[in-house]
Amino acid sequence: MRILMIYGTTEGHTRELCNFAASRLRERDLPTTVEEAGHDPHHPDPSPYDVVFLAASLHVGRYQPRLMEYARTHHATLNKIRSAFISVSLSAAGENPHDWEGLEQCLARFEHETLWTPSAVHHAAGAIRYSQYDFFKRLAMKHIAAKRGQRTVLSRDYDLTDYDALSRFVLDFVGAPAAAADAKAG
Ligand SMILES: Cc1cc2nc3c(=O)[nH]c(=O)nc-3n(C[C@H](O)[C@H](O)[C@H](O)COP(=O)(O)O)c2cc1C
Repeated sequence: MRILMIYGTTEGHTRELCNFAASRLRERDLPTTVEEAGHDPHHPDPSPYDVVFLAASLHVGRYQPRLMEYARTHHATLNKIRSAFISVSLSAAGENPHDWEGLEQCLARFEHETLWTPSAVHHAAGAIRYSQYDFFKRLAMKHIAAKRGQRTVLSRDYDLTDYDALSRFVLDFVGAPAAAADAKAG
């Protein structure tokens, strides 16, 4: 089985999540290629792969344009093979129904604009990286986090991702035999 993972990122967290997920797959002898969606939306060709994951993070209600362009370019292939989407956001860190409704709307717009309908979607909570933001982004994120019930201080970063849940999602999606055992153990 050959697995491809293509991601879009703004501050790097989604790259880290993909590298983590890929390492879990490789541990089970599942060769996994990880690449960032780049300038050329035709590269890489997803058709030789058995399973494809796309991953992107939300910034002001939108996913990274290059990842969207990749999905749109390859939507016909992605709709035919086993493909899943990993959506990274701050909204997914909480349980506010309003935030989850917003997430569903962002996802619906993503699917509408790319013409790709993933067979499965995983919502991963993202990170707050105050150390990487400029002054205005810091204030905006403190406000966004507070609105979502996250009390944060600007002097540190926060990683809100549930790595076990992400791991279970990718292993289950590829049908890796160890996934069921992991889920029970976790
Ligand atoms: C300027 C900015 C805008 C954001 N907008 C949203 C948003 O609209 N909805 C949301 O749920 N999360 C939002 N987030 C949270 C990001 O999705 C989260 O920080 C994620 O981990 C970023 O991933 P990346 O490092 O791969 O870009 C925003 C973050 C920043 C810095």
